[in-house]
Amino acid sequence: MKVIAINGSPRKDFSTAALLKQAISGAESVGAEVEIIHLYDYAYRGCTSCFACKRKENAGSGHCAMRDGLSPILEKVMACDVLLLGSPIYYSDVTGMMRSFMERLLFMNMTYDNPMRTAPGKNISSAFFFTMNLPKEGEHYGMPLFEQNSRSLALLGGTTEYLASFDTYQFDDYSKYAAGIFDVAQKERIRTEQWPLDCRRAYEIGARLASK
Ligand SMILES: Cc1cc2nc3c(=O)[nH]c(=O)nc-3n(C[C@H](O)[C@H](O)[C@H](O)COP(=O)(O)O)c2cc1C
Repeated sequence: MKVIAINGSPRKDFSTAALLKQAISGAESVGAEVEIIHLYDYAYRGCTSCFACKRKENAGSGHCAMRDGLSPILEKVMACDVLLLGSPIYYSDVTGMMRSFMERLLFMNMTYDNPMRTAPGKNISSAFFFTMNLPKEGEHYGMPLFEQNSRSLALLGGTTEYLASFDTYQFDDYSKYAAGIFDVAQKERIRTEQWPLDCRRAYEIGARLASK
């Protein structure tokens, strides 16, 4: 069982990466082979609309003709059994790096045939982990975004789900930043009470998906 975690945050040791690391620990606990990839380590672009993956001889091959830093990562993803994606919310969406990754992954895995064909012979289950500054009370604003992004991964032939973690810490020490709009005591409460539960859920998702 191969599990790949893709971190769409520029930070390798903050909230998004922490949830992904919990999920891969869960996967490891049931014997999966795991790898975490930090998208910001790679130079790549989003889909350039070359349509090579829509040409009759290529359509449905699950292959992207663009050659750049993302090429080996896409190959690894196509060879995995479970895909774990993580992204902070930046201006009400996933990060640009995650978006570009998804354009490439999703477009190469669908055809314009009628009926449409999707990933050839694949059955990759996935979970999407979102972290954001928004408090949980604003969850309904994010819901369509969470659902749309996680459901788009159904193209890979497996189950899809997501976990959203709210009111995350942006800085280690709020006293050093001009950030008076935040209620630091509330942030601390979330950190102590809710964050460990989110980490636990991430661990359980990783363990469950890797046991299927
Ligand atoms: C450029 C930028 C834009 C952001 N936009 C939003 C936003 O629209 N909504 C939100 O709730 N949080 C927003 N945030 C906060 C991050 O989503 C949040 O701190 C997240 O947990 C960061 O993930 P990380 O700790 O893994 O880097 C933004 C942060 C940055 C740096």
